Amino acid sequence: MTRQTKDRLISALVWLLCVMPLLLFVWQGFTGGLTANPIEYILRELGLWGLRFLCITLAISPLAKLLKMPVLMRYRRRVGLWAFAYVALHLIMYVAVDQQFGWSFIIEDIVKRPYITIGMAAFVLLVPLAITSANRIRRKMRVRSWRRLHQLIYLIAVMGVVHYLLLVKADIRSPLIYGGIVAVLLGWRLVMRFRVARPRPGSGAPSLDRPARSL
Ligand code: HEM
Repeated sequence: MTRQTKDRLISALVWLLCVMPLLLFVWQGFTGGLTANPIEYILRELGLWGLRFLCITLAISPLAKLLKMPVLMRYRRRVGLWAFAYVALHLIMYVAVDQQFGWSFIIEDIVKRPYITIGMAAFVLLVPLAITSANRIRRKMRVRSWRRLHQLIYLIAVMGVVHYLLLVKADIRSPLIYGGIVAVLLGWRLVMRFRVARPRPGSGAPSLDRPARSL
């Protein structure tokens, strides 16, 4: 198999994995798997997939390092955009289907319900990341500013977990698991950053002014 064919295959596989949750909804729609309250079910599932894809995006860099598979880094941006797509669909589902564009209720929710306030803030922060993922815009930005902006993804993931924690009523195990995953990934990032910033013995000049590796 040529390298080009292999790349195409991996790329198609990643695309298929990202689109899988949507295909699952279609399948569940035909087989009656969308529960008795399909709106709430889809709304919640889209939120969960948004959070899962945010975690996967954050996990790509450590996985690429641990598995010694730098090729994985090629797909990080795409997976990140899918995280945005799922969160955007989650928001659309809430605004258009759940609230049926009842703007006064939506605004009241944003102001009065802390979990909606945090979810909305997380979405607002995600928008510039999605926009600046485009190659054209990325090339126009300074590398440092681009990386700094994209480090917001950690904050967004934390906000997603807090949003989840605040909305569950009794069993908080699931949001705590996601919280643990985000904490480990953030911890890994901080350790890497510390290692880059600390001068290695015998390595000459300190590397503090070297831009931190992205994500
Ligand atoms: C990064 C952004 C966001 C993430 C990661 C996220 C994630 C989640 C998750 C994981 C759930 C719970 C799913 C479950 O219970 O199984 C959820 C539920 C929900 N989210 Fe979000 N969300 C985000 C943004 C938003 C925004 C912008 C809104 C609306 C303005 C919103 C409104 C809701 C609502 C209404 C629910 C269902 C609450 C319920 O059924 O009681 N979310 N979200």
